[in-house]
Amino acid sequence: MSARVTVIDHPLVQHKLTNLRRRETPDWDFRRYLRELAMLIAYEVLRDLPIEMVEIQTPLTRMMAPSLAGRRVCFVSVLRAGNGLLDGMLEVLPTARVGHIGLYRDPETLAAVEYYSKLPEDVSEREVIVLDPMLATGHSSVAAVSRVKDAGATSIKYVCVLAAPEGIKTLGEGHPDVPIFTCSIDSHLNDHGYIMPGLGDAGDRIFGTK
Ligand code: URA
Repeated sequence: MSARVTVIDHPLVQHKLTNLRRRETPDWDFRRYLRELAMLIAYEVLRDLPIEMVEIQTPLTRMMAPSLAGRRVCFVSVLRAGNGLLDGMLEVLPTARVGHIGLYRDPETLAAVEYYSKLPEDVSEREVIVLDPMLATGHSSVAAVSRVKDAGATSIKYVCVLAAPEGIKTLGEGHPDVPIFTCSIDSHLNDHGYIMPGLGDAGDRIFGTK
């Protein structure tokens, strides 16, 4: 079964994405753009959060007003690049809980190897938003979502900034129930598993490690 993919085409999102892609964007600016992008993506990804009407008092009168209700959220950052999206998401929804999953790509096989996992105890009761800027081969996304499902989560969304067609296919086949949100579907993966035209190594660009 194929994946449900939402490409967020808002002009602000697309403009910030272009600045992320630019080779000359320094790491401190890259982090800022990614944080801002995360806040804008959050509006789209969280648009179906349930609300309830609550009675409040304004300075002038009492009224019934909408307030977030019900299902609570857990952001799961796939280390380390997922952390680049975390701050912006938490700025928009500070009451969310946070989990981390550490995966690295075996350079030979490109398979995902887990080295760390810490999720909130009540993750099964929460709407889980998995964060990883680059959906490349899809191996780490499938592994991260499987990990979250193993912990009991049933409502999961996947957020990236760039997706390769190969990654969408792999994640869609592995977890057809998980909708994907991205800012762009790029052309293809190169021989080293990098998204083309892409933005380079997201982790290195966030943390200035290269
Ligand atoms: N991970 C990255 O950081 N960049 C890519 O292009 C692919 C995977």
